[in-house]
Amino acid sequence: MADLSDFQHPRFARMYVDASVVSDRRGAREHRIRLLAGLEGRVIEIGAGNGRNFAHYPKTVTEVVAVEPEATLRRFAATEAASAPVPVSVVAGHAEDLPGEPHAFDAAVVSLVLCSVPSLPAALAEIARVLKPGGHLRFYEHVRSPNPMIGLFEDAITPVWRRVAGGCRPNRDTLGAIGRAGFVVDEIERFGFSPQPLVPAFSHLIGRAHLHSPG
Ligand SMILES: C[S@@+](CC[C@H](N)C(=O)[O-])C[C@H]1O[C@@H](n2cnc3c(N)ncnc32)[C@H](O)[C@@H]1O
Repeated sequence: MADLSDFQHPRFARMYVDASVVSDRRGAREHRIRLLAGLEGRVIEIGAGNGRNFAHYPKTVTEVVAVEPEATLRRFAATEAASAPVPVSVVAGHAEDLPGEPHAFDAAVVSLVLCSVPSLPAALAEIARVLKPGGHLRFYEHVRSPNPMIGLFEDAITPVWRRVAGGCRPNRDTLGAIGRAGFVVDEIERFGFSPQPLVPAFSHLIGRAHLHSPG
């Protein structure tokens, strides 16, 4: 099992703090608003980074537990939490070992995180564990392109990309993994988005899913 020391990327973290401001200006702010619209109750946000989502939680959310493994980003997130419109507590942790009893949360939020977790099935199983039966998953992720040539290009750059970008893999089948983890996808929006100047428009998803309850 990974521990927190596996997720420390201070150089990437300092770069991400500035880069996230740029990508929000280029459109990610609107993506975050769509991601979080209509959420209610207790929410766990996994891999909250420097807290760029916090300002956009609707007032119907009663509490956000924001889990972030990287120490530099966690400090920035704590500052953002102080001015959030809903109560946000920022805690150290990672997707493979989340805080909380089983069925503790109404909803889970991941944004630009599932590309970086060491094991997608392990992370999604742990998210399912802490959600109530029928609980909601909101996701905003970049994924492997449906265009075969671009997908092959993403496969080719992944080994180098993940080393310089905090473990991020541009070629993941995140939607397939969400389905295989027992979630039913209710809504999906697909679009190309270039988060930074000179970065190609990666294939992105904003989606809503819920945990399948047998019977
Ligand atoms: C590209 S940043 C996105 C940050 C934030 N969610 C956002 O929307 O701006 C990726 C984040 O995933 C976090 N991360 C990487 N591996 C993780 C894991 N196994 N569990 C939880 N978070 C993880 C990183 O520390 C970083 O904060």
